[in-house]
Amino acid sequence: MNGLKNDVSAPSVEGNIGVRKPIPPAKLDALSKEILQLKKKLNAVILAHNYQVPEIQDIADFVGDSLGLSQQAAATEAEVIVFSGVHFMAETAKILNPTKLVVLPDKDAGCSLEESCPASKLLEYQQRHPGLYTVAYINCSAEVKALSDIICTSGNALRIVQAIPKEKEILFVPDENLGSWVQEQTGRKMHLWPGSCYAHVEITHESLLKLKREHPDALILAHPECTKSVRMLADEVCSTEGMVNICKKHSARSFIIATESGIIHRLKKECPGKEFIPMPSQNCQCSECKYMKMNTLEKLYDCMVNLSPRIELPESLIQRARRPIERMLEVTTGKNVKV
Ligand code: 13P
Ligand code: SF4
Repeated sequence: MNGLKNDVSAPSVEGNIGVRKPIPPAKLDALSKEILQLKKKLNAVILAHNYQVPEIQDIADFVGDSLGLSQQAAATEAEVIVFSGVHFMAETAKILNPTKLVVLPDKDAGCSLEESCPASKLLEYQQRHPGLYTVAYINCSAEVKALSDIICTSGNALRIVQAIPKEKEILFVPDENLGSWVQEQTGRKMHLWPGSCYAHVEITHESLLKLKREHPDALILAHPECTKSVRMLADEVCSTEGMVNICKKHSARSFIIATESGIIHRLKKECPGKEFIPMPSQNCQCSECKYMKMNTLEKLYDCMVNLSPRIELPESLIQRARRPIERMLEVTTGKNVKV
């Protein structure tokens, strides 16, 4: 749409990581104990995304989706935020807490969606199409957030778009799959940026169909970053937190989970006795995001000892990127905010 296909290069995707070796129990215990002591000493909070490895989820103060994590970051009174997720998430926490120290286990934990929308290309597009209202999925850089009118996550994208006055023409960046799902659900036409999550687009219609045949009673839950051909087979399309909520409440005993497999740990913990079937993807039987899995418990410990890597952003960028995030948080909590 609108010539966007030719504007941006495809995100770079290297091979998926292999299966990790588990940490020996004695080392796991010792490391976990040290992390908890350090947390107390630093007055730190550990926030972890649902895709993080089990040992990180188990030690975190809060595990959730991008929306829950940004709400936690906005509300925390801790002096240090240890953010175990990918870089844009830690960056969002810093934008919301400019005076706090925000550290992350691996500063190279990126995101193919973020890569697919460089700020310079977005600015160029906005200049060629003046007057567009830009909605940015939170999976983008601080610079892209600063160029946007409002941010959304997979958990609130429908609500955010529905809050935008009908007469405004919307540009949705950077995930065309989430954007097309929002279009289908709201009936709102939008300019869609041609970006995608490399991990979710590797989940195919054929492999999901095969699993559906093998598990006819299983409820299929798919993330909106999946392609339309996958979403159309799903019983529910929702964020990772939405998946946890559905699995807890639904009477079904088994669920096919079409998203990154890290969430299976939380599902098993919070829904004992139910069966969760992960989705193999084209190139990776484990359906893992290579960026999310760059974080390890050892790196988490190191970043707390060294207080590095840390997020540092220019003050002017923080100021410009903050309002679109705050606007999202306000709309989500039902505040009557002008969008
Ligand atoms: P949510 O956890 O917000 O659904 O997002 C998934 C994701 O891909 C985060 O990078
Ligand atoms: Fe980005 Fe996809 Fe990984 Fe999420 S799963 S961090 S969208 S590459």
